[in-house]
Amino acid sequence: MPKPVELVVIGAGSRGGIAYASYALRHPDEARIVGVADPDPIRRARLAETHDIDDSHCFTTWEALIDAGQLGQGAIIATQDQMHVEPALAAMAAGYDVLLEKPMADTLEGCVQLVQAAERTGRNLQICHVLRYAPFWRKLHEVLESGVIGEIVTVEHRENVSYWHMAHSFVRGNWRNKGLSTPMILAKCCHDLDVLVWNLQQPVTRLSSVGSLLHYRAESVGPEIPLRCTDGCPIEPACPFSAIGAYLDYERTFPGARQRLIDAGLDPEAPNYWPFNVISPDVSRAGRQRAIESGPYGRCVYHCDNDVVDHQTVLMELESGASVTLVMHGHSNQENRSMRYDGTKGTLRARVDPDVIEVNIHGGRSEQIAIEPSPTGHGGGDEGIMHDFVRVLRGEIAPLTTARVSLESHLLAFAAEEARLSGQVIAMADYRAHAEAMA
Ligand SMILES: NC(=O)c1ccc[n+]([C@@H]2O[C@H](COP(=O)([O-])OP(=O)(O)OC[C@H]3O[C@@H](n4cnc5c(N)ncnc54)[C@H](O)[C@@H]3O)[C@@H](O)[C@H]2O)c1
Repeated sequence: MPKPVELVVIGAGSRGGIAYASYALRHPDEARIVGVADPDPIRRARLAETHDIDDSHCFTTWEALIDAGQLGQGAIIATQDQMHVEPALAAMAAGYDVLLEKPMADTLEGCVQLVQAAERTGRNLQICHVLRYAPFWRKLHEVLESGVIGEIVTVEHRENVSYWHMAHSFVRGNWRNKGLSTPMILAKCCHDLDVLVWNLQQPVTRLSSVGSLLHYRAESVGPEIPLRCTDGCPIEPACPFSAIGAYLDYERTFPGARQRLIDAGLDPEAPNYWPFNVISPDVSRAGRQRAIESGPYGRCVYHCDNDVVDHQTVLMELESGASVTLVMHGHSNQENRSMRYDGTKGTLRARVDPDVIEVNIHGGRSEQIAIEPSPTGHGGGDEGIMHDFVRVLRGEIAPLTTARVSLESHLLAFAAEEARLSGQVIAMADYRAHAEAMA
């Protein structure tokens, strides 16, 4: 039996501290967390305690962890979007194989630097495109790869971000402002673009894009609307974006959530999971109340410092001449992704949550493929990528995808943002060559 691989976590927040590190608790024979870097004392202590990490391997910054020498074989890097490049370059230089959160970098130059460094050092740099590891997306890929619908002619792929997720992450939260984070088409849709790159297996030749911030702006409401939901807002009781309705009286936004928590043996008065544990480490009613009265998550959605779009469409032409449309928006009643592929022999329609793939062959048979729901994050993708990363580190398999492959989805996202802002059509061959020369 091989020894568990030893891993360090840089950034012990929602992703590093919970989504990925928890794999080691469920599979102690496969992985152990032996070091952590995070300036937040609560998150650092939580990870250290849960994984029994020695004090000497707990650091307040990623630099201090790297300076301490190589503590394990792999590094999970899950800091915020603008803090990916430096720690990942340093970790690879220090000898770590790296599991790096998406987006790989907040600039195109940073993305290319990372890929070139991984290729130069021979380190495994895996980007957390978790969808590739989820049963639904694997099945979709398998069906398309079988050629059952013939040559693909058009694709429509929708990323339907729910109104409450939009408000939480992209209006009030960490990904609201391009200057502080990354454009939404990169933050949210590098996953979608990666899936398209994977399924279509041919380069995008030309790309254009439109989109804007249409709704979550001060101009959408009158001057009587206060800055916070808790400041006696006259429309708060009926407002779908109310922070009180999302985080305090959460049944308003998530009907049935209370009962689901009780059924799962959890305390409905202290919902200790996303998105509640993002607004405050103290998830009691009093803690959540304090958070919305004084923190960023209690701000009126019309009075935030957000500037990322709430809808964007990307139109792409493939080398074969086929056309692909990606629609992303933050006004969906339900959170899901849906897609339609039309080929020369048939049509495939698919949607996530509930996960269903339907194939209709021209003039012939139809098939519905249901995929078992997975209890873990991203339809099983969070668990799947950790399983894969560990096996790669043990030398048992080659990685499912490389940083070089992940670069393509990032290139498309950066090009889409450039196309949206400039109104230009981007010739992707030139764009790729330009990116490679930048780093
Ligand atoms: N793969 C996915 O589907 C997916 C989903 C959500 C988020 N993400 C990405 O994961 C990343 C992390 O997101 P999150 O929600 O976990 O964020 P988070 O804010 O919860 O966690 C980031 C952590 O980094 C820590 N940190 C800050 N400075 C640091 C430093 N100098 N050294 C070490 N740690 C430091 C913070 O204290 C925080 O605990 C982001 O890039 C995000 O875009 C990916």
